[in-house]
Amino acid sequence: SSPRHLMSISDLTSGEFSALVRNAALRKQAVKAAQAPTSLTTALTGQTVAMMFSKRSTRTRVSTEAAVTMLGGHPMFLGKDDIQLGVNESLYDTSVVISSMTSCMVARVGPHSDVANLAKHSSVPVINALSDDFHPLQTIADFLTISEAFPSSGTGLGLNGLKVAWIGDSNNVLFDLATGCVKMGVDIAVASPKGYGIPDSMRQLITSAAQGVDSPGKLSETTVPEEAIQGADVLVTDTWISMGQESEKKKRLDAFSGYQITSELAKRGGAKDGWKFMHCLPRHAEEVADEVFYSPRSLVFPEAENRLWAAVSALEGLVVNKGRIQ
Ligand code: CP
Ligand code: NVA
Repeated sequence: SSPRHLMSISDLTSGEFSALVRNAALRKQAVKAAQAPTSLTTALTGQTVAMMFSKRSTRTRVSTEAAVTMLGGHPMFLGKDDIQLGVNESLYDTSVVISSMTSCMVARVGPHSDVANLAKHSSVPVINALSDDFHPLQTIADFLTISEAFPSSGTGLGLNGLKVAWIGDSNNVLFDLATGCVKMGVDIAVASPKGYGIPDSMRQLITSAAQGVDSPGKLSETTVPEEAIQGADVLVTDTWISMGQESEKKKRLDAFSGYQITSELAKRGGAKDGWKFMHCLPRHAEEVADEVFYSPRSLVFPEAENRLWAAVSALEGLVVNKGRIQ
């Protein structure tokens, strides 16, 4: 039977998504308390995880390599100049060959179809490490971060009723974050300039995440940052110029002027008193001012660290437990 892959958050039921977040939290607590069970530290002994990255990465690379190491396996990093893929060999051939020798492929690509095609032909689980459309590992880390900042009193993540405001580009990071919000009962308001909003097909995918969820989060869209910020608990942004869009830099900087997250904007928009700031990183000053980015409201560094625990959780769910995520 074909293995289960992680292409985007929409591949997961809300129960599975919250299990990945919860397991990430449990692993984080156990390892920090020096109580990691042997079942964790030997889970991938003797196994190799191939990491095929056609774009730069700091967090995704380091967190994945560290996670595989923590599980006792060997992370094999294959950068775009290291293997034949794309230049001298097809995705199909590469996928069949690499999956015949490894336990998992973690791939960072441009077009989403590249990682989808790798998955289609792979005999082992494939994890999307960022494509032009999705970034599921980031979303798992982001929900771990939100659940730490807004702890619930009951069981479960208990995030129902929170509001996230995304101010900036409608991109890969947003699409999975929004899907996660819908599944977790967190409202998400998106403010993007005209022409940089959520494409129709993506909006459909995000809103369809509400199916089967008791009280799903709601997605709303505007071009006015203040409107999105009204009553928000968490303000989030990302770069305005994603990898692959470098040639649009000038045009984008113009289009996004006025979208920088500042304390003044948060105040004007009416964010909740205890509002927090998140950003997947890498960050540029144009999208968020230093006064916010380096303030006590900022969760960016715990959010980055949480990439490690998200990677551990995803590898356990997909590879160790063969897609039985619970
Ligand atoms: N947030 C994130 O994916 O960062 P990297 O591009 O450094 O991996
Ligand atoms: N949206 C950014 C995220 C980088 C982690 C990009 O795709 O470049």
